[in-house]
Amino acid sequence: MTPSQATATHPPDTAPNATATHPVFAAQVLEGLSAQPKRIPSTWFYDHRGSELFEQITTLDEYYLTRSETALLRGLHAEFSSLPAGAAVIEFGSGSSRKTPLLLDALRTPASYTAIDISGDFLRQSVRGLQLRYPRLDVHALEADFSAPLQWPPALAAAVQRQPRIGFFPGSTIGNFTPEQAVRFLHGAAVFLGPGAQLLVGVDGTQNKARLLPAYDDARGVTAAFNRNLLTRINRELGADFNPQAFRHVARFDAVHSRVEMHLMSPAPQTVHLLGQRFQFDAAETLHTENSYKYPAMMFQRLARSAGWTPQKHWLAADADVALHLLQC
Ligand code: AVJ
Repeated sequence: MTPSQATATHPPDTAPNATATHPVFAAQVLEGLSAQPKRIPSTWFYDHRGSELFEQITTLDEYYLTRSETALLRGLHAEFSSLPAGAAVIEFGSGSSRKTPLLLDALRTPASYTAIDISGDFLRQSVRGLQLRYPRLDVHALEADFSAPLQWPPALAAAVQRQPRIGFFPGSTIGNFTPEQAVRFLHGAAVFLGPGAQLLVGVDGTQNKARLLPAYDDARGVTAAFNRNLLTRINRELGADFNPQAFRHVARFDAVHSRVEMHLMSPAPQTVHLLGQRFQFDAAETLHTENSYKYPAMMFQRLARSAGWTPQKHWLAADADVALHLLQC
């Protein structure tokens, strides 16, 4: 069995004519730079370099999320063994798929694994690694933006149709959605996975500023580089003239919305050119690049219920307010 590659909705990073091949990227950047306050969706962080930088973030002392969730997953081996045998595991935003074995190893003879991610080359690389590690598993890659409604490629749908479906959405990636988008995503996942499916979601509920801010503004500046890489990507793929070094990385906690925000702040006035338009930054003006919502368990359960899921169980990490929620639809 070889990994199958389904519909590519995003072109490779090396595409010669950026504007023609990245119309959605171009449109969202133009729209976001024209908005007040300026913003760009965080999905665009993950070009190849951005995915590498995110991997580095997950190893930082300050970034507790990955360590806590990984420890939590390890401790749930026995709990996962009571999930249905012969399952189709479907992971949303699989990235490096580093946590996937923690679930696959605990399940009784999983039948298939489908990785869904927006970053195509990273996706194919990690799926290849998993196929080598699990030669009997039917492994698939689906390059897609799961923040929009997902569709099964017909061949893949046929392959997993009769298998009990277990969705896997670790890493608190759901925090990048607004609560409204999160509900829409969860509802879409219920439709995509089908009746009777289960969904295992990793959610960070941390509210402590002293813990949150260093996690999003680390001492070595890896998160700052991750944030600025968005500008480098816009320069390369859309032909803009951002000077990434002329922007300061800013992380702040908005307690009202229960979210960490990342911004790129222009300390001095400057002008940027992109696709025939000029964009003016005033002194201290920011470009909002990410929201990372922090849902305490009760709050997340409410979101899940409004999207048609029934919370079955949840487990909390020993050392942080990081939770894994098991939902049923
Ligand atoms: C991958 C969305 C979970 O919000 O913590 C890490 C991304 N941004 N550092 C997060 C991120 C800055 C991360 N998620």
